[in-house]
Amino acid sequence: AIESVYAREILDSRGNPTVEVVLDTEDGAQGLGLVPSGASTGEAEAWERRDGDKSRYQGKGVLDAVKAVNEVIAPKVIGMDATDQRALDDTMIELDGTPNKGKLGANAILGVSLAALYAAAESAELPLYRYIGGTNGHILPVPNMNIMNGGAHADFATDIQEYMISPYGFDTYHEALRAGVEVYHTLKGILKKDGHETGLGDEGGFAPKMKTNEDSLKYIVKAIEAAGYEPGKQIGLCLDVASSEFYNKETDSYHFDGADRDAAYMLDYYKELVSKYPLVSIEDPYAEEDWSAWQKITAELGDQLQFVGDDLLVTNPKRLQKGIDLHAANSLLVKLNQIGTVTETLDAIELATANGFTSMVSHRSGETPDTTISDLAVAKNTRQIKTGAPARGERIAKYNRLLEIEEELGSTASYAGYSAFKACKQ
Ligand code: PGA
Ligand code: ZN
Repeated sequence: AIESVYAREILDSRGNPTVEVVLDTEDGAQGLGLVPSGASTGEAEAWERRDGDKSRYQGKGVLDAVKAVNEVIAPKVIGMDATDQRALDDTMIELDGTPNKGKLGANAILGVSLAALYAAAESAELPLYRYIGGTNGHILPVPNMNIMNGGAHADFATDIQEYMISPYGFDTYHEALRAGVEVYHTLKGILKKDGHETGLGDEGGFAPKMKTNEDSLKYIVKAIEAAGYEPGKQIGLCLDVASSEFYNKETDSYHFDGADRDAAYMLDYYKELVSKYPLVSIEDPYAEEDWSAWQKITAELGDQLQFVGDDLLVTNPKRLQKGIDLHAANSLLVKLNQIGTVTETLDAIELATANGFTSMVSHRSGETPDTTISDLAVAKNTRQIKTGAPARGERIAKYNRLLEIEEELGSTASYAGYSAFKACKQ
């Protein structure tokens, strides 16, 4: 049973405050819950509670969330069984009583939810992926590595927020990771040679100012070839357009490549990119409430390509059900803190899988050394993860955790490879 729950304010990878929860059980196990934080957040995400006291951390302190854990949640959950994750999460959801965790804060609730998960796994003497997934979790995900950053993560160096490489044409995770890393380093050299800045964005990718959004794709394909790999055959490309960030509600238009564009223009643009580059996945091609545009692109290109709903679906089983019903998107981005509990996150993955949606487990742009998403991707055999470039400790921690899991699984490990995306060209 849970013996104690204690929260404190710590810092995330951007130097912003976030919540850490330490949970102890009577049998001597201890779990740590570290909460990430987004920058290009979806409107429908669960509430991230911040103090708003401008005299501390420019209003971004989380002392109220910490207090909610220590004074409201702790007394309620002490004595509960840490292994009964669903009952624990339900209790916190009920205690909050709002649809978006708008009373206690999703950052308070998720900290406790994660800390209980880790404590329960330790009590069971199981690694996290095995505790969550049982004996079936054995597929190492394709690492979608965000090697060029734009949008809200890099002062809009490009409108498109994330340019990812997906090394799927390899037999093992560690070989795929190596290929991705080599492309990353090769890209740096090529950018430098052309006189571009090679400073890093929030997720560790290079963030040079580009004339057009397509220029980044040209550089990446060049880097894949220069590193000795075959674009499309071994390494594909994923985009996270994060288009809600440059969508204008009043004019119903997307400010893209220097002008206002309508949904039809964007559709033609995506089609052109798909014909020119080995794209396998596009995330948030349209804004979070532009359901009809989402329906159209899914109907026209969804058979060959993955369309990932991030701001659209916000890891929320209700929004996901709407996407399923409307045939808007065909893939779910999975972020624990968008919904705020481990249980609801698992429910969302379950619902996605049952309806033929793929799941891509994801970090946030504001991260901690926590590696839960690595274990989660293996436990649920999601076949895909995105956790930034192979740079910055908080990103590397996730990729390294997957190396550890791969080694631990030994001959029972398999690599998702081509099976991760329907657009893979074998
Ligand atoms: P965020 O970005 O964590 O800043 O929301 C990640 C994403 O949009 O996928
Ligand atoms: Zn996104």
